[in-house]
Amino acid sequence: MALFQKKEPAPQRQIPTHIAIIMDGNGRWAKKRGLPRTAGHKVGAEAFRTIANYAKSIGLRYLTVYAFSTENWKRSEEEVDAIMELLERYLREAIRDMDKNRVRFCFFGDLSRLSPQLQQEAREAVERSKGYEGVQVNFCLNYGARDEILRAARTFAQACAEGRAKPEDLTEAGFSNLLYSAGVPDPDLIIRPSGEIRTSNFLLWQSAYSEYYFTDTLWPDFSPADLDRAIDAYQHRSRRYGGVKP
Ligand code: FPP
Repeated sequence: MALFQKKEPAPQRQIPTHIAIIMDGNGRWAKKRGLPRTAGHKVGAEAFRTIANYAKSIGLRYLTVYAFSTENWKRSEEEVDAIMELLERYLREAIRDMDKNRVRFCFFGDLSRLSPQLQQEAREAVERSKGYEGVQVNFCLNYGARDEILRAARTFAQACAEGRAKPEDLTEAGFSNLLYSAGVPDPDLIIRPSGEIRTSNFLLWQSAYSEYYFTDTLWPDFSPADLDRAIDAYQHRSRRYGGVKP
């Protein structure tokens, strides 16, 4: 009888190991509502919190978010201050709730330009979350991929100049280890909301074989259902890394 028929188990979803997100569209979200841009960032920060918790609940290992680029300093002082304040508040709360959330924090970017207070919160978050086994959140702060690559090249050139390395010994893996993302697997999936279709200086080296997903949803509206849709699209891609499918 149909009533007692055993249900087929749902097929196991293969969750990507590493998802990276360009949190874009906060300004437009606010403009559509006649609100100041800073209101969009505030709701955007909430969207981030929801997505980070959801990412942890589905077993994602790495979540990298573009929170502030090397180019974002061109914005008004008021807007830059508002974003920094949101980050500071988020980190303070995260540090307070660390044992409960078990999220590991990492930062990609040159933090020396941030306020001493934010640098301190960032250091503390990294230090205290080191041993946590949940999702690792990589915050890209004052981050630019060209800047990251240039710094790595300089570090290696310096090592050569001092006789500690030889140019011919440099490998792709060796170069990866000189980037902010050292030790983190390359992103499987990069999501850009807000309808923009460009990479905007984000993870240029690491994205060589990443799958991209673009959606018109503005970041403050981005929900766990949107993340599910992106993962579902990813699961239907055929990743060949330049080879052919067996
Ligand atoms: C891009 O949208 C967004 C940013 C430059 C800032 C992202 C920052 C946050 C989401 C808040 C940070 C806080 C936490 C806790 C992660 P945009 O301003 O370029 O939007 P627009 O393209 O519509 O103008």
